[in-house]
Amino acid sequence: MKKIAIITGASTGLGREFVKLIRSKEEIGEIWSIARHQDKLEKLRKQMGKKIKPISMDVSDRTQIEKFGKMLAESNVEVHYLINNAGYAKFCSYDDLSVEDSLNMIDLNISGVVAMGLVCIPHMPRGSHIINIASQAAFQPLPYQNLYSSTKAFVRNYTRALNVELKDRGITATAVCPGWIRTHLYDRADIGAAKATRRFCGMTTPDKVAKKAMTDADRGKDISIYSFYVNFCHIGAKLLPQQLMMKLWLLQQHINPCSKTSR
Ligand SMILES: NC(=O)c1ccc[n+]([C@@H]2O[C@H](COP(=O)([O-])OP(=O)(O)OC[C@H]3O[C@@H](n4cnc5c(N)ncnc54)[C@H](OP(=O)(O)O)[C@@H]3O)[C@@H](O)[C@H]2O)c1
Repeated sequence: MKKIAIITGASTGLGREFVKLIRSKEEIGEIWSIARHQDKLEKLRKQMGKKIKPISMDVSDRTQIEKFGKMLAESNVEVHYLINNAGYAKFCSYDDLSVEDSLNMIDLNISGVVAMGLVCIPHMPRGSHIINIASQAAFQPLPYQNLYSSTKAFVRNYTRALNVELKDRGITATAVCPGWIRTHLYDRADIGAAKATRRFCGMTTPDKVAKKAMTDADRGKDISIYSFYVNFCHIGAKLLPQQLMMKLWLLQQHINPCSKTSR
């Protein structure tokens, strides 16, 4: 059986860094690299070589995940890594997005993660790893990133509990909680909303986050946090009341909820 890795959102940003790291693992024969745009996936294959199997698919679409599940079941493969990385944010107020756009974020950031896990776990042997990308935004409620932070809180809790449930199968599940990372996420997130979060403290690069996540997954940790700054915020969110954490967040972002625009 061919040993494979499956990575969603593989064509850019953090996902691309996971592709790079897994490509150097000799035992992994193929990296099933998922994203919506075929051209970007073809570019990835050209740059990263033959191990890359481009799969153009929208992970927010349940029907496409079902089709993917059938393809996986018909292939003679074992999934050694599942990296649920595809996700996006919108920096805005709750009413800046339509019902459809709001629910699409939940479909990708939450339902996609759950569905991909359910489809892949039956094909994962002992010693394999699930890496789900949450965020520092999972630590506390974040006004003006309300929906995004709530989806990431789900991913964090779901993954840690899943890690316990998978112990009898010898599979680990790790929730990765990065702070701000320099990627294309911001192109999609900044919709020019009147009140929006635009101050990005402690920004890092995706290679560092991916490397720490792989090390933590290999060690069987259920949560992966990179950098002193994000660890500090994690501890703060555990010790301080959430009302206070939200006030500090708004101060940092220069947003007064009672005014019409952010400063
Ligand atoms: N950047 C940050 O500051 C930051 C911080 C914490 C956590 N994160 C998390 O890290 C993960 C990766 O984000 P990134 O920063 O690397 O963003 P990115 O550079 O925008 O990459 C997103 C990737 O996901 C793919 N994608 C988007 N929508 C998709 C869909 N519906 N179905 C399948 N693939 C889809 C994109 O390709 P296509 O457009 O071709 O589909 C792309 O490959 C996300 O879960 C994000 O929430 C990011």
